[in-house]
Amino acid sequence: MAQTRSLGVGVISIGWMGRLHSRAYLAARQHFPELPVRAELVVAADPDAATRALATEVLGFREAVADYREVLANAAVDVVSICSPNFLHREIALAAIEAGKPIWIEKPMGRSAAESAQIARAAAARGLVTAVGFNYRHAPAIARARELVADGAIGAITNVRASFLADYSADPAGALTWRFQQERAGSGVLGDLLSHAADLVQFIAGRIDAVTALTSTVIAERPLPRGDAASHFSKGRDDDPRGKVENEDYAALLVRLESGAVGTLEASRVAVGPRAGYSLEIYGTAGSLRWDFERLNELELADDASGYRRVMASPGFGEFARFQPGAGTSMGFDDLKTIEASLFLRSVAEGIQYAPSAADAWSAAEIVDAALVSAASGQWRTVRQVALP
Ligand SMILES: NC(=O)c1ccc[n+]([C@@H]2O[C@H](COP(=O)([O-])OP(=O)(O)OC[C@H]3O[C@@H](n4cnc5c(N)ncnc54)[C@H](O)[C@@H]3O)[C@@H](O)[C@H]2O)c1
Repeated sequence: MAQTRSLGVGVISIGWMGRLHSRAYLAARQHFPELPVRAELVVAADPDAATRALATEVLGFREAVADYREVLANAAVDVVSICSPNFLHREIALAAIEAGKPIWIEKPMGRSAAESAQIARAAAARGLVTAVGFNYRHAPAIARARELVADGAIGAITNVRASFLADYSADPAGALTWRFQQERAGSGVLGDLLSHAADLVQFIAGRIDAVTALTSTVIAERPLPRGDAASHFSKGRDDDPRGKVENEDYAALLVRLESGAVGTLEASRVAVGPRAGYSLEIYGTAGSLRWDFERLNELELADDASGYRRVMASPGFGEFARFQPGAGTSMGFDDLKTIEASLFLRSVAEGIQYAPSAADAWSAAEIVDAALVSAASGQWRTVRQVALP
């Protein structure tokens, strides 16, 4: 067993993602025992009192505070997870970086490419490693797909197709939380889901350098939420007052890649049918492959003229063997976050960037910004390229 040192963790905002980060830090060393660091949950921050009680009594934090600044000021905190609503990301990230603490931040990193650039540049200037919640990269089937493409198993990529269709806002009774407000979220489904799709395409097929896009808002008004703790999945009542949805529910992009390949990216938060239907298809001159998050452990591969065959994730595919010893035993979403935590912890321990980085998030944000400008103008947009590792 490797010599370990302990690393103090602060997690800011203990909603869906904050709880997941907290679990993932603890699970990381069980699955990656060679990690030279052992995460210790020092302090959680959340304005909601019941959530703070959960953080100490259930999640295992030593203490919980209402104000995130206490996390950054705590000398026992070495690294910080930022799992807050989007409008807090930039403020918290810049303060954490200023305090010299590496960050693991949820996507979309900033509300705009400009905010994302600021965070990525600040971390680079301080020489800090980062991690971003592009968790779909870590699915073992995706790791295998990336290797197959790199090894030429499907020939030269001709086109890609990513469609991230979810139903989390399909119910018009879904509350008007921060996600639907420009000031607090930035874009809508573009930042929320299409950023994941853009990252996956770039992870496997290389840089996207031009886009044209259209967007639509399907549900124009929603019930106002009761209280700040309303989440993604909170519902209003028929007689609740309503407010305006300020960002897009749906987006479709045509894209050109630096390699010359072309493709389509699509995202919806109001699809009725797909629950979390996040699919990626890569077509090449000698075959193709496709994956869907709803079937996390399967990869469909066509590498001859006989059509697709189903390949189950198994030991040898990415980090699968860290979780299950035999093929066909399913992994889940939490496991993807555990892999992300292990990459972050390893990055911090070695000072080498292994996890999806702030620069990757900035790059995805440039695609989102280009799509918004294109949707408003009807013109193709060149995507500004990011010049950081
Ligand atoms: N990687 C992924 O697949 C994925 C999935 C879901 C969400 N996200 C991202 O994670 C982030 C959080 O989303 P979520 O679904 O966990 O949200 P959530 O609504 O479940 O939780 C948000 C939490 O923030 C807290 N909060 C509100 N104001 C705060 C403040 N001033 N200071 C500190 N905490 C405050 C709330 O009390 C709540 O506990 C978002 O950026 C979102 O885009 C990523």
